[in-house]
Amino acid sequence: MIDSRLGFAAGEAIWALHEALEQATHVVALTGAGISAESGIPTFRGPGGLWRTYSPLQLAAPEAFERDPRLVWEWYDWRRGLSRKAKPNAGHIALAEFERRMEDERGARAFTLVTQNVDGLHDRAGSRNVVKLHGDLWLVRCTGCGATTRNEQVPLPELPPRCQCGALLRPGVVWFGEPLPEDAWAQALEASQRAQIFLVIGTSATVYPAAGLAHQARRAGARVAVVNLEASDIDSSAAWVLRGPAGEILPRLL
Ligand code: OAD
Repeated sequence: MIDSRLGFAAGEAIWALHEALEQATHVVALTGAGISAESGIPTFRGPGGLWRTYSPLQLAAPEAFERDPRLVWEWYDWRRGLSRKAKPNAGHIALAEFERRMEDERGARAFTLVTQNVDGLHDRAGSRNVVKLHGDLWLVRCTGCGATTRNEQVPLPELPPRCQCGALLRPGVVWFGEPLPEDAWAQALEASQRAQIFLVIGTSATVYPAAGLAHQARRAGARVAVVNLEASDIDSSAAWVLRGPAGEILPRLL
């Protein structure tokens, strides 16, 4: 394992991984809340994390929505406001540029960006092919007719919002206890099994099945690289661990 903390100059570890990326024909990046932290969006765990202040079971679960849809929507409306004000940072932009370069040089499916984030910052940075495992803050889904639509109003004029059919709308995100969107999961799995390098960026890698992708990629032959401020559960499986802010490491790496 090349670990940028253990006597290797960080620059040397970044260079070694950069060289490996230059050789790879298929690369996957899995991102989590840490990549948006430098844009001012709080992570879930760790200091200042949302789950330190709020209970996931009261805000991000189907039972919570049944119990108190207004409370759940107030929280999502607040998060939509935070995401709207935030701007993509150098980490998001480096990934979008890497995607374009990989596609130009190595073909359309050479790079797959899989994210657990719902904030839309990868889209705004210019990433085109984003596999969203946990949905999208900017989508709303009708609990009656099932229609999914894009809604970018911030704040929403009425909480909880309603569909034209009269039923309640819910946020287009995945809640605890719900399955991941089938298409997104299938795409993520397929790309992970083809990957030669699997980047794990700004995620605690504690929420499954998303966190399992890195292990599946490794079993299928990929080398795993971690970019994170802190130690994470995935470090022991990684060939490279780059410790530091994604917004500084990714532009140098990619
Ligand atoms: P977490 O909050 O669990 O983890 C964020 C990770 O980012 C931590 O490992 C931090 O060390 C790291 N980090 C923070 N700032 C960073 C920075 N500037 N550069 C690099 N790394 C940084 O967030 P996720 O792993 O995304 O799911 O959480 C996974 C899922 O749990 C979320 O999608 C959400 C949550 O509950 C649902 O809501 C279904």
